[in-house]
Amino acid sequence: VTANAAGRLMAAEIAEQPQVWHRLLTEAVDPIGEAAARMADRAPRFVLLAGRGTSDHAALYAKYLIEITHALPAGLVSPSTTTVYGARPDLRDVLYIAVSQSGGSPDLVQSMEVARQQGALTLAVTNNPGSALACAAEIHVDVLAGQERSVAATKSYTAELLALYLLLDRARGGDGRHASSLPEFGTQVLAFDELVRGVAQRYRFAQRLVTTGRGYSYATAREAALKLMETCYLSAQPFSGADLLHGPLAAVDPLVPVIVVVPDGAGGRAMMPVLERLAERNADVFGVGSAAALELLAGGITLPTGVPEELSPLLEILPLQQLALHLAIARGEDPDTPRGLQKVTETL
Ligand code: F6R
Repeated sequence: VTANAAGRLMAAEIAEQPQVWHRLLTEAVDPIGEAAARMADRAPRFVLLAGRGTSDHAALYAKYLIEITHALPAGLVSPSTTTVYGARPDLRDVLYIAVSQSGGSPDLVQSMEVARQQGALTLAVTNNPGSALACAAEIHVDVLAGQERSVAATKSYTAELLALYLLLDRARGGDGRHASSLPEFGTQVLAFDELVRGVAQRYRFAQRLVTTGRGYSYATAREAALKLMETCYLSAQPFSGADLLHGPLAAVDPLVPVIVVVPDGAGGRAMMPVLERLAERNADVFGVGSAAALELLAGGITLPTGVPEELSPLLEILPLQQLALHLAIARGEDPDTPRGLQKVTETL
């Protein structure tokens, strides 16, 4: 890859992810342990999560983790209720987690300040410990991804996922051991790069695309669609597998590629009726998931076995980041500098 080649930064940052995860798994043990202890101490009754774009998808992943593994209700907030409408909800007993690579969007900072005033325990997960968001929160968790130079977020996304996983695992007495092999698995999955490049050629002229998954993998479907939209300028619509069957399936025909995320575990099993319905519509389906699920499909990327479902999103997104990269390049675009996006977007 030459110095100015399109997608050079994004390619490097995609490839760097196993190394980033290794750093988090080794260097963040103590700070994450302390943050988890402070969180557990306050015994929140409810968790609210805030984030934009890619970081919103990391927040969505954490919502599933909290509801499933902590048996606590969790929800995604709309910052506009406080920043635009001036609402001041009663947030006693609430843990308020804001997720942001840059820690720079004013709406997140402001809604976190309001959450703190309203009695919530506030925690920021960012890639920038000096950011306004990190400073506004009572507790800060640094995702240690290193500076992200490509506008399209890749390594910061999976670093956010892993930091949230480790934090929530520690908060219920875990030691993060299930995550220890992730860097190795990540390297294995990244090795499918050539295969993904071939798939990108197939989708070169696609105008529309659908992504779908359930449970933890719904975050993957959403993040894949965002990455494809922002780097390839196509209309990629993400649906939970359940929602897809409640109407939007009608818009799928053999000309609309569908990316399905079907890992081992409950979420992947819950996708089976969706795969059947997609087959009935002769959809062009590309899968990322377990060997068993991929046997039912014409093509896809098989994920390694032995990864707990709740950690699978870290691996699922890798080939889909590669797809966004290669498809953008195949369409003559430079995914490092997408036309519609800045590295820090300031919204209120
Ligand atoms: C980047 C992207 C953007 C950002 C969003 C939030 O690929 O899709 O949507 O994720 O601007 O940025 P941070 O995480 O810095 O708050």
